[in-house]
Amino acid sequence: MNAPTRPLPAAVSAADLELSYGATAVLRGIDFSLPKGQTLALLGPSGCGKTTLLRLVAGLLSPTRGRISIGEKTVADAANGAFLPPERRGLGMVFQDYALWPHMTVGGNVSFPLEMRGIGKAERKDRTLRALQRVGLGQYADRKTSELSGGQQQRVAIARAIVAEPALILFDEPLSNLDRELRETMVGEIGNLISSLGLTAIYVTHDHSEALSLADQVAIMRGGRIEQLAPPDILVDRPATPNVADFLRLGCVAAVKRHEGFWRLAQSGAAIAAEDATAVDSTHALLPLAAIELLDAADARINGTVLRSQFRGDGHLATVQIGSGEGRTELQLISRTKLRAGEPVGLRIDPQQIRWFSSQDYR
Ligand SMILES: Nc1ncnc2c1ncn2[C@@H]1O[C@H](COP(=O)(O)OP(=O)(O)OP(=O)(O)O)[C@@H](O)[C@H]1O
Ligand SMILES: [Mg+2]
Repeated sequence: MNAPTRPLPAAVSAADLELSYGATAVLRGIDFSLPKGQTLALLGPSGCGKTTLLRLVAGLLSPTRGRISIGEKTVADAANGAFLPPERRGLGMVFQDYALWPHMTVGGNVSFPLEMRGIGKAERKDRTLRALQRVGLGQYADRKTSELSGGQQQRVAIARAIVAEPALILFDEPLSNLDRELRETMVGEIGNLISSLGLTAIYVTHDHSEALSLADQVAIMRGGRIEQLAPPDILVDRPATPNVADFLRLGCVAAVKRHEGFWRLAQSGAAIAAEDATAVDSTHALLPLAAIELLDAADARINGTVLRSQFRGDGHLATVQIGSGEGRTELQLISRTKLRAGEPVGLRIDPQQIRWFSSQDYR
């Protein structure tokens, strides 16, 4: 006989979570539920509450309201004061500044969590070596951490976080002290490590490419709230608000109005779509970079002037001004060729790719 199936519990979840310092609310009602084996990225501007949320999950802070669960255990509940200290939450942490002990060897740093758990010397040595091998530092156990490069130190910090085989690992901007090339390599390594160890992870960053490449779910945070929580492809295809679209730099968000059978850019009056393209209450439109195509100025219904053009991996990111004075709107597109500032260009906008927002989408 089959046992009744029950949904698997979330590996980590928060409900109605708030944190205030005195009268200042830093987190204002956070809810999420992350299944086992997935990575959640917390993405948002400086001061939006990412580190605070991570510290609450870690048990370095306790919530003023709401609950946190890890596995089937409630680890904090403001309603009844329940609180499990960090060392009993079964998690590993990796910080921006590595937080290694410089006077200890690499091996000493990595084996520390095992020592705290009272594990014997021989087993400690064995597990430490295995964790170091996982991050490619098998030969470094006897070195001093101060003799290592930034990237190597960060690998030691990661080895220390996984040595006790936690179910959940928390990262707070682990790569922001590294140069760009190393950052890209390490994002790949961290992703591989997370999936090969079957870890559940929460990863704080303000680098959106890091978040989108690593995470199964991304929470875009703003002012102590989660503005949208979704898988990366959904965020890019269907940003919930103009803020999310702006933050992910998906294109230009412009005010729109209906006039003489068309939706038009409110400032310049340029027609971007037929009137029936969207609901009547739209106030703004996201024109994704990929929705705008360059034409010869003579063949186009929308004309503009190039303001600037900047190379980025997949082409030249050009900013084009439509209209002038009060009536100007700036749009962005990707051009395969370099455009000169001041050059006149024609544009075509694919109405199918426009994303419409109403005044309710502004929070
Ligand atoms: N101990 C504290 N007392 C009062 N306010 C605090 C304290 N710690 C943090 N804050 C405030 O809480 C807000 C959120 O801080 P937090 O460190 O979580 O932001 P963050 O999203 O991690 O930012 P960053 O990207 O800069 O690391 C900030 O406005 C910060 O000033
Ligand atoms: Mg932070």
